[in-house]
Amino acid sequence: MAGSERILCPALPGRIMSADEAASLIPNGANVGMSGFTGAGYPKAVPQALARRIRALHERGEKYRIGVWTGASTAPELDGALAEADGVELRLPYQSDPTCRRRINAGEMEYIDIHLSHVAQFVWFGFLGHLDVAVVEVSGVLEDGRLIPSSSVGNNKTWLEQADRVILEVNGWQSERLEGMHDIWYGASRPPRRQPIPILAPGDRIGEPYLRCPPEKVIAVVETHAPDRNSAFTPPGGDSRRIAGHILEFLEHEVGRGRLPPELLPLQSGVGNIANAVLAGLGEGPFENLTAYTEVLQDGMLDLIRCGRLETASATAFSLGPEALADLNANLERYRGHIILRPQETSNHPEVIRRLGVIAMNGLIEADIYGNVNSTHVMGTRIMNGIGGSGDFARNAYLSIFMTPSTAKGGAISAIVPMVSHVDHTEHDVQVIVTEQGLADLRGLSPKQRARLVIENCAHPDYRPALRDYYRRALDGAPGRHTPHLLEEAFGWHLRYGRDGHM
Ligand code: COA
Repeated sequence: MAGSERILCPALPGRIMSADEAASLIPNGANVGMSGFTGAGYPKAVPQALARRIRALHERGEKYRIGVWTGASTAPELDGALAEADGVELRLPYQSDPTCRRRINAGEMEYIDIHLSHVAQFVWFGFLGHLDVAVVEVSGVLEDGRLIPSSSVGNNKTWLEQADRVILEVNGWQSERLEGMHDIWYGASRPPRRQPIPILAPGDRIGEPYLRCPPEKVIAVVETHAPDRNSAFTPPGGDSRRIAGHILEFLEHEVGRGRLPPELLPLQSGVGNIANAVLAGLGEGPFENLTAYTEVLQDGMLDLIRCGRLETASATAFSLGPEALADLNANLERYRGHIILRPQETSNHPEVIRRLGVIAMNGLIEADIYGNVNSTHVMGTRIMNGIGGSGDFARNAYLSIFMTPSTAKGGAISAIVPMVSHVDHTEHDVQVIVTEQGLADLRGLSPKQRARLVIENCAHPDYRPALRDYYRRALDGAPGRHTPHLLEEAFGWHLRYGRDGHM
């Protein structure tokens, strides 16, 4: 169906314009809330038009930079284009674009990395300043102005509520059959006496399938026909398979001990290839009637639905490779009954995560021998992506699992270090660490008990002797200490990498 056939609200056709015209309505210095979450549902045309305009203005010596707020990471057409044009003053929250990352780490762009569940309420509370413009991709507009969301919901509800002006991109490429898959809850309130979120199971629908937007706020409508980013996942390699194997064995063990029901508890699976491999492993494992209360639906989740293992998956966005996306679009009717897309303030809400008892599985950059986890900073100072939803899930999960290969960069870096060079998840939020070497179940253990297990079960054999030596000397130096460390050496591994290119 052509884009304009998707715009049923009589007030809007008069506001259809080109992306360049729409971009010219965004003033210098504006805070702009854009749709988009892990490469799904982001505006495809206006950010690129804005980037062209910024380049032209900069060439004329005129200043122009905006604040860009999104759901999470987007794609080259948004983050990449605006960062290339040096048009971003401040970016929040999670991003994973190489140019953005380079500019952030070069000090050319401010970046605020916050929990994804916090973003919407930070905006309602006024913590982030005023939101001037929303640029939101939708798959259609109803007669009364309500919007059919596209392949992600993210923070769109909040952007549409809070922004003074709204620019809509109506993307004819998005399947019309997405209509009805979303569940937008408008019951959120401010403290004190906030409303409980009435989700008691991942499949509960508590809201409405459309986003509200007063038509008078809409200053421009841009029609597009462009695909989401849809990068392919790499097929699970040996390490990912081994990590998945350890997790599956652990989950079976927990079921055997009566600490998990046979159908497990709702799964949350983080971003990346390892998370996808774990989902693939679940497809081959013994578990049936699974559910997911998570942030993104990756290829592995669709596979689990297709093979009848996964009953319900609640998330805020799709994050699919090209083949999985083609399958989704061709078979949406089959998947529809199993999938709910919600605003990220609901998908990542600590209250719901704690109530449902989610099994959280997230990646890490490095963990230390006591179980503190760094998910965001390479060598303590350079941002990789951001904390995303990992903190929302890890702290509130029934089981909080972190996973990583035991080494990075061809073995030059150990993912298990004496002391993490940046902390995102403290020892209090990390219950299980898994590498291809093995799994450390840290529940109920003191720091010294944890250190022995992390070193013996998770560290790569090439680094294990040095970690043992560090721990033994730390212990000998201060036998009574609760958490023994050699402070003068704690970051020695990172310093050595900086100096010699090898830990
Ligand atoms: N030092 C330096 N680089 C490291 C590293 C370390 N200790 N550990 C990993 N890396 C690098 C890898 O080399 C790789 O770099 P490359 O892309 O240049 O090859 C990159 O980080 C990704 O690592 P990979 O092992 O492929 O794992 P991943 O795709 O699972 O990503 C995180 C790991 C931590 C970056 C990713 O999980 C993340 O961003 N997490 C935070 C957000 C989050 O958890 N979101 C989910 C919540 S729903």
